[in-house]
Amino acid sequence: MKLRSFIAYILVIVAIVWSISSTSFATKPPPQPTNSAAESLRLLATKRDFLIGTAIKPQPLQDDPTYREVLAGEFNIIIPENHTKFWRLHPERDRYDFTQVDAIVQFAQEHDIKVMGHALAWFHALPRWVVEGNFSREELMEILHDHIQTVVGHYRGQIYAWDVVNEPVEANGSLRETIWYKTIGPEYIDLALRWTREADPETLLYINDYAEGLNAKSQSFYNLAKELRQRGAPLDAVGFQSHLGFLSTNNPEEVAENMKRYAELGLDVMITEMDIPINQFKGTPEQQLEAQAKMYRDFLKVCLDASNCNTLVMWGFTDRHSWMTGFTGSKDPLIFDNFYHPKPAYHAMWEELKGSE
Ligand code: G3I
Repeated sequence: MKLRSFIAYILVIVAIVWSISSTSFATKPPPQPTNSAAESLRLLATKRDFLIGTAIKPQPLQDDPTYREVLAGEFNIIIPENHTKFWRLHPERDRYDFTQVDAIVQFAQEHDIKVMGHALAWFHALPRWVVEGNFSREELMEILHDHIQTVVGHYRGQIYAWDVVNEPVEANGSLRETIWYKTIGPEYIDLALRWTREADPETLLYINDYAEGLNAKSQSFYNLAKELRQRGAPLDAVGFQSHLGFLSTNNPEEVAENMKRYAELGLDVMITEMDIPINQFKGTPEQQLEAQAKMYRDFLKVCLDASNCNTLVMWGFTDRHSWMTGFTGSKDPLIFDNFYHPKPAYHAMWEELKGSE
């Protein structure tokens, strides 16, 4: 009898432990965010005409009220992380699918949030029909033209800025030999900019890359922007992706200096994909969080201090939905944790925006 009740006791304990461990953060309702929307990043940024933003994913936008609440409370600009890419919007040659992006744009309009589009001509995220189509120069020009005309035309007047050509430059400074470059020639960049301008005369046009510091790649990206301007291509800005300490430099002085030379060309700089993986910092977890916070603050300050930078977009806002978690082994790069609690990085940015009110 005693043995039976002992076994029953063990079974109950096992059941409790199992049920706790199987309740992962993916199913457990997260606690409410602890920041106050009344004094949000968004509010502080808006007061000074600054755009503070995040990349977003449609799934949590649809399923998770906390995601929506923090998003609308904290940010005044968004970029769909994946859903304005070529293969999502244009899966077959004669078929476009705007469903997901239409929903994102509608959410943004309901909450008075600007939307940026990323990326019209990129070597990645292309559908197989483009990559394997073995198209001639004329055919590929027609495909890119049709893509830009249809996509940019569909959202005419609704997209604040388009990333027209993404990652056009190689690490060694040469133009990246993408399918567009190899088949159409280097003029694909001028053409893409021109076609985008024709499809929406009001949207801002930028080229985007991880070329923020001072090195061969950033020199070549700068030269490209300068030549485009000299040729009269409709280019308004450049995007500094800013995956800091991962794809991009984490040296703020270099970035400040680089921004300055774009100002001399009459070009704005937008920080478009900022994130800062924590495992690049030494020390205890608390020290890593502090170092991450300092870097967020330093780079925000670089942008605030520059005459030609008024947009800072992060590549997500909660570690729960960062691309880095799944792809690179890099960790916790964003300003809210898995449970939507603001991290020291959030408070550092908040103070930086508040301090210079
Ligand atoms: O959603 C599909 C799913 O249906 C499918 O079953 C699965 C199988 O592969 O893929 C899922 O899509 C993935 C998508 O992320 C959503 O998670 C794609 O494979 C994957 O390639 C995609 O990765 C994205 C990557 O760009 C490539 O497009 C990342 O989320 C995104 O954060 C990353 O973002 C890039 C910028 O566009 C450009 N700059 C660098 C930045 C980081 O790499």
